Amino acid sequence: MNTAVRVLFTDTISTLDEYAARRGGEGLAAARQVNPDLIIKELEASGLRGRGGAGFPTGRKWRTMVENRSSVEPTTVVVNAAEGEPGTFKDRSILRKNPYHVLEGALIAALAVGADHVVFALKRSFQPEVVRVRAAIAEVQAKGWAPGVGFELFEGPDEYLYGEETALLEAIDGRFPFPRIAPPFHRGVERVAVRAAGEASGSGQSARVEMAGPTDDRFAPPALVDNVETLANVARIIARGAAWFRTVGTEESPGTVVCTVTGSTRRHGVAEVIMGTPLREVIESIGGGCLRGRRIKAVLPGVSNGIIPAELLDAPVSYEGLSAIGSGLGSASFIVLDDSVDLAAVAAGVARFLGVESCGQCTPCKHGGLLLADLLKGVSRSQADERTLEFINTHASTVNEQARCYLAHQHKIVLQSILSGFPGEFQAHLNGEAVAVEPYLIAELIDIVDGVAICDERFREKQPDWSHDPQTRGKVPADRFGENRLGDRTFMPARRADR
Ligand SMILES: Cc1cc2nc3c(=O)[nH]c(=O)nc-3n(C[C@H](O)[C@H](O)[C@H](O)COP(=O)(O)O)c2cc1C
Ligand code: SF4
Repeated sequence: MNTAVRVLFTDTISTLDEYAARRGGEGLAAARQVNPDLIIKELEASGLRGRGGAGFPTGRKWRTMVENRSSVEPTTVVVNAAEGEPGTFKDRSILRKNPYHVLEGALIAALAVGADHVVFALKRSFQPEVVRVRAAIAEVQAKGWAPGVGFELFEGPDEYLYGEETALLEAIDGRFPFPRIAPPFHRGVERVAVRAAGEASGSGQSARVEMAGPTDDRFAPPALVDNVETLANVARIIARGAAWFRTVGTEESPGTVVCTVTGSTRRHGVAEVIMGTPLREVIESIGGGCLRGRRIKAVLPGVSNGIIPAELLDAPVSYEGLSAIGSGLGSASFIVLDDSVDLAAVAAGVARFLGVESCGQCTPCKHGGLLLADLLKGVSRSQADERTLEFINTHASTVNEQARCYLAHQHKIVLQSILSGFPGEFQAHLNGEAVAVEPYLIAELIDIVDGVAICDERFREKQPDWSHDPQTRGKVPADRFGENRLGDRTFMPARRADR
C-alpha cells in the first residue's frame, strides 16, 4: 500500500532529546527565523487541510486568526484532542507514539498567530494520553522550547459534542459542551462580552445570549482550534517546505492521512496512508480484508458522512475522492460492515448515537433525533410498517432544521444515505423477510488492543439527558445543565491544570 511515515511514528519517541535527535525542533527553529506571515504563507502553499473532520485549509484559518486579533487580549491556540468520532483512534495513536511534534506544531501556531497560551484539550478518560502529554509539556518547558508561551492541559468531559470546536471552547471556559452561536474562533466570549456589555451572567448555558447582545468583536480574543493530526503535520512543513509536503498526496489533498479501520475486518488498526490510496487497499492493508467467508456490504465513515456501498470501494481516500461518491473523508474512520450486518440496525445505531449525544439546544435535532432512533429501532426489531418508514423519511429530512451546529446535519446526511442507498434493508423488515435484530452499537472507541477495537459499551446505558441513570429524567442536557453551572455534580464539565 501507499504508506509514508510523517505523523504516525512506527516506534515510540520516549523523550524530547530522542525527538530532537530525530530532527525534532527544526520546524520551530525555522519558524523563529522568519516573519509570522511567512509561516502562514508556507502553510497556505502546502495545501494542508484540517484533519479534525471538516478539511478546512489550515493556512487560511491561521490567517483569519491574525486578521481577527483582539485589541485587548492575546490569542490562544487550542489542540483538539477530544477524538470522539465513532470508529476513530488516530489522534490517540499519534500522541502515544510522539506527543512532541504535536506540541511543536502548537508552538509554531502560537508564533504565527501571536498567541501566548496553548490549551491541550484531552478528555479526562484518556488517561494514558493525559499522562504522556503532561510529561511532554513539562519537558518542553524545562528545555526552554516555549519561551513566553504558557501551557494548560485541559481534561474535558466524554461527550461527543466536546470535540465540536465551539463546544470545546465553552468547556474550556468552564461551561458545558454546548455549541455556541458565535464566530467559531472566539474564546472567552462570555468573560469579554460581560466586561464590554457591563452585565453579569451566572448562566451555565452556552454563550449565545452574550453573543446575541451588543458585543464588540474587537474585544473577544480569538482561539485557534486545530486537530492533533493537523498540528502534527505542521513542524515538518515549516522545516522542509510546502513543496516537500506536496510530494505525496493529490493536488486537493496533499500529504498523508491517518486512517482507522474497524468493524467486520480480520483485525482493527490505525495506519498512515498517502492521500489518494483506494479505500479497498486501505481496508486490506490495515484490516486484513473482510472476515473469513464474508463479503463487504458497505463502509460507514464514522457518523459524519454518507455510507459507502461495496461497489464504490475503489474510490480514492482523499477529500475530493470520497466527496465525489457522495461521502467524505471526515476523520478517516472506516467501519467495515459485512454482508451479515443489518443496515436498518446500523441506521438505528447511528440515530441513537446522534440523538443521545445531541445537546438539545435545537428541538428538531434532539427530539427529532431521538424519535428517529426509536422509529428505526422499531424497524430493526421488525415491529414497524410502511407508515413508520414514511415518518422516518420525513424526520430524517427535518432533523437539521434551525440547527446551531453540524451534528444535526450529520444525522440527516448519514441516515438519508442509508435509507436511499439500501431501501431493501428496511423493506425486508416491513415484509417480515429479515430477522429482528437490536440496533448496532455505534459508540466511541476506548482503545485498540492487539488488533481488536474496544467500543464504549457503556454507551448502551447512556440516557438522552447524558446521565447513566436507570431512568431518563426527561430533560435534555441543555435544560438539565443549563440551570446552574455547578448545580449537577454528576456531570463535571471542566478541570483546569498546569497553567
Ligand atoms: C459533532 C462534532 C464533533 C467533533 N469532534 C471532533 C473531535 O473529536 N476532534 C476534532 O479534532 N474535531 C472534531 N470536530 C471538528 C471541530 O469542530 C473542528 O472543525 C476541528 O477541531 C478543527 O480543527 P482542524 O481544522 O485542524 O480540523 C467535531 C465537529 C462536530 C460537528
Ligand atoms: S444541532 Fe443538535 S447538537 Fe448542535 S447545538 Fe443544536 S441541539 Fe445541540
